Amino acid sequence: SFEDELGLECPGKIYTQVMDLKQLPSDKFKNSSHAAHCMIYALNNRPVLKAYMPKASILMQLRFDGHFGFPGGVVEKGETPEEAVAREMEEEMGILRHNFRIFPEDHVVTHYSEDKDLLLHFFTKEVSLNRLLNIEATAVKGDYYGEEVMGIVRIPLYTMADGFRGFPAFLNHGFIGNSKEQLLHALIAKQLFTQEEIQTALAAKPKIIT
Ligand code: GTP
Ligand code: MN
Ligand code: MN
Ligand code: MN
Ligand code: MN
Repeated sequence: SFEDELGLECPGKIYTQVMDLKQLPSDKFKNSSHAAHCMIYALNNRPVLKAYMPKASILMQLRFDGHFGFPGGVVEKGETPEEAVAREMEEEMGILRHNFRIFPEDHVVTHYSEDKDLLLHFFTKEVSLNRLLNIEATAVKGDYYGEEVMGIVRIPLYTMADGFRGFPAFLNHGFIGNSKEQLLHALIAKQLFTQEEIQTALAAKPKIIT
């Protein structure tokens, strides 16, 4: 799998990639819970700090539990994963759900946690840079801001001269569930990073200054 290829480790948790969403619902998953999260991003060719050229701006959130993750949440009874994303966007990001439509074609990957009997559906939504700026500015008005959500962040998508600061340093934070794997998946799927660039970032170590 992708995770094996990249040598990603999720201590104590095993997430397996569900290859084809159409295999759902199968017997194996008939009692499973579902969660759905979404990466909002905008293509962006503005330099950061006049030196770095990330290809995109990507939003994540700092959660109440101290981990980074994507907006989204548990799929409730009677909802599709797409509807759950739209509802959670309203709760967590203050985006009115009728302004945030997610479609089956926005789906990127689904993982399964045997441990929790939980299917984790992951979507991406490309928006204009102006819309992303607007989402950032109004996120503090979400109902759950200051409760479930402690902040909205942009991922530093560049690597600085020491080979660690920037994206590799960001990847060393704590991430909820398999959200780090979801991020890496999406970066490759949206052709923002190559597999090799991801591997380099995962392997980077901070320089120890003596
Ligand atoms: P509650 O209503 O308080 O349950 O919160 P919620 O509905 O917003 O759910 P939450 O976003 O915490 O996600 C539910 C489950 O998915 C939890 O088991 C988390 O471990 C997991 N989870 C949370 N965020 C992410 C994420 O970005 N990616 C993945 N893969 N899992 C996540
Ligand atoms: Mn929520
Ligand atoms: Mn949530
Ligand atoms: Mn919820
Ligand atoms: Mn909740």
